Amino acid sequence: MLSPSQLSAFAEDGFLVLEGFVDAALCDELMAQADRLIDGFDAESHRSVFTTNEQTRHADEYFLGSGFDIRFFFEEEAFDENGCLCREKHRAINKIGHALHDLDPVYFSFSRQPAFAGLIAALGVLRQPLLVQSMHIFKQPGIGGEVACHQDSTFLYTEPPSCLGLWVALEDATLENGCLQALPGGHRRGLDALFRRAATGGAEIRRLQESDIDMDDLVPLEVEKGTLIVLDGLLPHYSAANRSSRSRQAYTLHLVDGMAHYPSSNWLQRPREYPFAGFELSAPLKC
Ligand code: FE2
Repeated sequence: MLSPSQLSAFAEDGFLVLEGFVDAALCDELMAQADRLIDGFDAESHRSVFTTNEQTRHADEYFLGSGFDIRFFFEEEAFDENGCLCREKHRAINKIGHALHDLDPVYFSFSRQPAFAGLIAALGVLRQPLLVQSMHIFKQPGIGGEVACHQDSTFLYTEPPSCLGLWVALEDATLENGCLQALPGGHRRGLDALFRRAATGGAEIRRLQESDIDMDDLVPLEVEKGTLIVLDGLLPHYSAANRSSRSRQAYTLHLVDGMAHYPSSNWLQRPREYPFAGFELSAPLKC
């Protein structure tokens, strides 16, 4: 499934771009399912905003409890100065997460498509692949928020680090609408920070080393719909705000190695009776 040059490029760069990996029809199906989920979401019930720029402030119970649920987070700029939602909810959502892959039948099938399992096996970096987190990310036209430069292992930490991200472009992603940008080879710099549950409640970011990343060293990964980007969990990456009129939806699935230790200080925790599962899970779970 992967050529020796693709495997060595992933080891060297910390990311791998696979064009046309996912059928456009499957991308459409996922976006239609997201629309249906938002149809059923009461926008008055939760006003949780997602921003990576102020992790502590927004690490509320609604977020911390989303590890085994399907929850909705708004774009920061979807509200006016009086706190009123100034857009129709479908055009205001920043992301849906974080257990779509285990709880929703459409996301379950998408996340466990045999090509993903084959890809993970071909990469050979996870001895026991476990699907731990899924997000449907919208980056809405005009108000889509920036995602600050980060490493996914900051948020899904194992000992040793094993997080791996699959990022699927559900629509064309360009510099204009906020495509991914990545630091080639940056996965070798070590972990910059740890996001963990605080003993006093909530969560906090702990710096492990000073970040000396020059944003000019990031390369834009402009990709077409259906492209899959594999990301090493230690790879610094970023995406700019979407000020264009074009939507930029993406789906991300994060895996860790079940042979590595998953600390209880990670923000994402599951009920004891529903541990993380791999590709072999035969049917969606109920929460
Ligand atoms: Fe990320």
